[in-house]
Amino acid sequence: MNLQKSGVTIWLTGLSGAGKSTITGALEKKLRALGSKVEVLDGDIVRLNLSKGLTFSKEDRDENIKRIGFVSHLLTRNGVIVIVSAISPYREIRDEVKQRIGDFIEVYVNSPLAVCEERDVKGLYKRARNGEIKNFTGIDDPYEAPLDPDIECRTDKETIEESTEKILEKLAELGYLA
Ligand code: PPS
Repeated sequence: MNLQKSGVTIWLTGLSGAGKSTITGALEKKLRALGSKVEVLDGDIVRLNLSKGLTFSKEDRDENIKRIGFVSHLLTRNGVIVIVSAISPYREIRDEVKQRIGDFIEVYVNSPLAVCEERDVKGLYKRARNGEIKNFTGIDDPYEAPLDPDIECRTDKETIEESTEKILEKLAELGYLA
């Protein structure tokens, strides 16, 4: 039996297309296989319900992150491993959420803008360049990279398996896995 020590929030921040959702999916699968209680809060999905109606202004992005942080905190203190996948472009609100939750691992999913744009999985960069989408992160809206992340995943240089393994190793090192 897997005796999970306590809950923790694993917060993946990074540009659109950096690989946050892909790592999240792989990590979720591994953790479930280990018998952990896991929940995923993905920006795209949260914006369809909990944060429905919020825009991509700084104020609304911060509000979105506060809401995700609030739910993550509730789950974390009840023993769940929470994986958050959200651009979360502003350092101050990320740090605030980190302080509040405590059991928190910040993962910087880092891929150069040019690589994210080249991938353009959802075709959003093209639309942002055309001016169809305004305030697109990395194009005409800021992204403040973490200064001291717990983990950095260079998804342009490492595989998804390597990135996932790094996070699992950190969880084990900090005692969140039995
Ligand atoms: S934030 O900044 O943390 O509140 O953003 P988040 O909730 O993670 O939502 C990001 C997803 O919204 C889509 N999208 C945009 N992203 C950035 N900027 C703009 N203007 C924008 N408009 C729509 C996009 O699909 C993001 O998903 P990911 O998974 O990051 O590609």
